[in-house]
Amino acid sequence: MAETTANPKISTRNVNVYYGEKKAIDNVSIDVDMDNVTAFIGPSGCGKSTFLRSLNRMNDTIVGARVEGNILLDGQDIYASSMDVVQLRARVGMVFQKPNPFPKSIYDNVAYGPRIHGLAAGKAELDQIVESALTRAGLWGEVKDRLGDSGTALSGGQQQRLCIARAIAVDPEVILMDEPCSALDPIATARIEELIHDLRGKYAIIIVTHNMQQAARVSQRTAFFHLGNLIEFGETSEIFTNPREDRTKDYITGRYG
Ligand SMILES: Nc1ncnc2c1ncn2[C@@H]1O[C@H](COP(=O)(O)OP(=O)(O)OP(=O)(O)O)[C@@H](O)[C@H]1O
Ligand SMILES: [Mg+2]
Repeated sequence: MAETTANPKISTRNVNVYYGEKKAIDNVSIDVDMDNVTAFIGPSGCGKSTFLRSLNRMNDTIVGARVEGNILLDGQDIYASSMDVVQLRARVGMVFQKPNPFPKSIYDNVAYGPRIHGLAAGKAELDQIVESALTRAGLWGEVKDRLGDSGTALSGGQQQRLCIARAIAVDPEVILMDEPCSALDPIATARIEELIHDLRGKYAIIIVTHNMQQAARVSQRTAFFHLGNLIEFGETSEIFTNPREDRTKDYITGRYG
């Protein structure tokens, strides 16, 4: 069941996540690599966001949340006491369901991370990083003449691409996306899906989605969760056309969820 990969970017082994006494994730072992986009699917409350947050220690910020087991980034234990969590979250960036730009200019939204991590030697280099991140996020053309405008003045889809640019600007290795399109219209959603295609291979990408068609379109590997358990993990085409487990089949055919 726990399909392994030769060169995993992230490897989880026997991961449990608790909120107080309640176990929200039960014994999950998966590998995520650079070459494939990985989709997490499953009914509401099955633990997708919980598991995703354990991959860059965002659960650390939730009182009572506790993670057991091993989560390795390039073979390094991200829960080791020597791990710098700020650094980790730059290496493993996150994009949320609701676009959440800072109430700052478009430029400053993207420059924020590079500034705090000291990635640019001067203004020219910072300008270059901002342009490059906005370009990779597919937003440069739309904002290059208005970089001083507030990020919150953009459309929802533009705001989400700005948030992706912000994550990219610190040169991450992994990008975690938790239902990044659920607040967007179909056109803005299509732009984000195109973007995920373009970013594939440059970053390890994990996307949580409730939209089966979206999972089928953007991912090469799919993990199906149910009640905190990883039920099935494999090639997206296999999961959608020939699932091994009845629970997977019931979910993807819309019998529950
Ligand atoms: N901060 C929290 N404190 C306590 N329990 C939580 C917390 N966050 C989530 N849970 C519980 O953990 C379980 C998994 O929740 P999670 O948000 O990870 O599910 P999900 O698969 O992302 O659902 P959805 O599709 O609705 O976003 C649920 O039973 C939920 O109630
Ligand atoms: Mg969720």
